[in-house]
Amino acid sequence: MSKETILLAIESSCDDTSAAVIRDGLLLSNVTASQSVHEEYGGVVPELASRAHQQNIVPVIDTALKRAGVDKSDLSAIAFTRGPGLLGSLLVGTSFAKGLALGVAAAKGDAQSKACPLVEVNHLQGHIMAHFVEPSPEMVRAGMIKGMTEEQLPLKHPSFPFLCLLVSGGNSQIVLVKSHHEMEIIGQTIDDAAGEAFDKCAKVLGLPYPGGPWIDKLAKEGNPEAFQFAKPNIAGYNYSFSGLKTSFLYTLRDLMKAENLDSIEALCDAHPHLQKDLCASLQKTVIDILMKKLRKAAKDLNINTVAVAGGVSANSGLRQAFLDYGKRYHAHVFIPPFSFTTDNAAMIAQAGYYKFLAGEYCSLDKAPFAKTTI
Ligand code: KG4
Repeated sequence: MSKETILLAIESSCDDTSAAVIRDGLLLSNVTASQSVHEEYGGVVPELASRAHQQNIVPVIDTALKRAGVDKSDLSAIAFTRGPGLLGSLLVGTSFAKGLALGVAAAKGDAQSKACPLVEVNHLQGHIMAHFVEPSPEMVRAGMIKGMTEEQLPLKHPSFPFLCLLVSGGNSQIVLVKSHHEMEIIGQTIDDAAGEAFDKCAKVLGLPYPGGPWIDKLAKEGNPEAFQFAKPNIAGYNYSFSGLKTSFLYTLRDLMKAENLDSIEALCDAHPHLQKDLCASLQKTVIDILMKKLRKAAKDLNINTVAVAGGVSANSGLRQAFLDYGKRYHAHVFIPPFSFTTDNAAMIAQAGYYKFLAGEYCSLDKAPFAKTTI
């Protein structure tokens, strides 16, 4: 007798508590609670993140199940992000997943034999699997997938092998994706990540955290050619963004010195367009750096399908750069819907679903890990 596969996924690697439900590969719900508590500190405070996850996790999971019209006892498996991320944050999601798995098994009268199957998901692989999420027409109709209309369904998904530019607050990588399970990092940052560069430069300009979306917004009205920032000269497919951050800082220092001003605030007040031009030039530089290495990798490996994933893939300039790349090199490009760019459980559900189908379950004694690779 065929049986539906209904999987609940939990994501809690950083400062977003998220839960999603997927049935036979179709996404039924994706609920995320973001944490505004970090704004005043200009970055994520691990202790506060962990505490907020504890407050959010029950209502978030409850809402995800309700929206999907699914009862806990219907679950075939529970997937959770095991790492990489903040240990205190990961612990909340991981522990909850284990407890719930036991609870579901008990409700089914199965507690003595074993828990409801658990599936661990690598957060980075999850970001890439965002490209395979297929939202239900009901979710799209209800406006739950930002910017998506029903006419776009079913979504197109990349075919293997493809290259994925994975850019987030903690990672900048070029990943060769060979299958749903097999991935190889062929290039990565040797220091800061692209999102970190955005966030740190935004902080210098006095913009709120996270700064990436602010840079994106201001860049739209700025001149991308106004400033030339240093670009790294790194071999192979690796990236470096720490020099760009320094170059950005030195540009501001020189401008202040030239005008005998003692603060960036005073400098921006004296030149109302300066902030926008700095943002536009910074964004252009980051995108140029990212796309140059991606192009090199695609050319060398003769791969004609490229995708972008991770929080920075929400950047409008980067999304446009991918579209331009597709036109220029006749490549198949894949850009995730906005809802699946920053941390979300839909991508964890998708990755978990493939692992569940492959019978890759994990035991109750698995601890989260802060650092790991794909
Ligand atoms: O993937 P993500 O949600 O979290 C992890 O780091 O895992 O990525 C967060 C990063 C932050 O650095 C944030 O500033 C950046 O994504 N980001 C953006 C935009 N939206 C989010 N960067 C540039 N432009 C955006 N629109």
